[in-house]
Amino acid sequence: MAKPLVLGNWKMNGSIPANAELLKGLRDWDASKVSLGVCPPAIYLPQCQVVLNGSDVAWGGQDMSEHDSGAYTGEISSQMLGELGCQYVILGHSERRQYHAESDELVANKCAAALKASLVPVLCIGESQAEREAGETLAVIERQLMTVINHLGLEAMANTVVAYEPVWAIGTGLSASPEQAQEVHAYIRSRLGDVANSVQILYGGSVKPDNAAELFAKPDIDGALVGGASLKADDFLAIAKAAV
Ligand code: G3P
Repeated sequence: MAKPLVLGNWKMNGSIPANAELLKGLRDWDASKVSLGVCPPAIYLPQCQVVLNGSDVAWGGQDMSEHDSGAYTGEISSQMLGELGCQYVILGHSERRQYHAESDELVANKCAAALKASLVPVLCIGESQAEREAGETLAVIERQLMTVINHLGLEAMANTVVAYEPVWAIGTGLSASPEQAQEVHAYIRSRLGDVANSVQILYGGSVKPDNAAELFAKPDIDGALVGGASLKADDFLAIAKAAV
């Protein structure tokens, strides 16, 4: 298993001066024990590339098109992310599924396009509050995960990262308990067959400096996909240090 991975999803946040301040606080990170990366809005990827080039900190996109190029106004291709030095691309985030009606099949196609361009897809899966309360959590995870596995094949999954992000924990300040997260992470691991130990499974949903260590202590939690707390260098680094 690779070392822990802590990724920041900036979502639709940032500005050139604020990014400069944040990236300055991150670029000296020593990734010998924990990998660190940031996923800014696409328009800020050139700024990340300039500031982080040569550092131990990676960067990536928050989404991309399933298409290589063409008449898809507003979309960004895997090749464009690659040109800007991206290592990762977040795909299937619940906010994309919710606000842009992204289907499991579309997410699977995007993962295939990312792998074709040698990007590392960060596949986001997770249940809603209603689904959890109805006892459907593992059924939702099974559906979202297996759609991608069946499309890519297990071998290709070795080159992906999976992020379990319970929708009810995103942006709420209410993280899943370490036990709740571990249960789902163990299930995800159980569905990965021979590549189970090659795939990093990140937890996302209100990860903060004060809850990170107990989450990372769980055997199947290999890191975090951090939203709000990734916008402050001190908090984001405190989370990454908790993974050491
Ligand atoms: O992709 C990570 C994000 O959904 C988690 O957001 O603000 O709850 O850490 P947050």
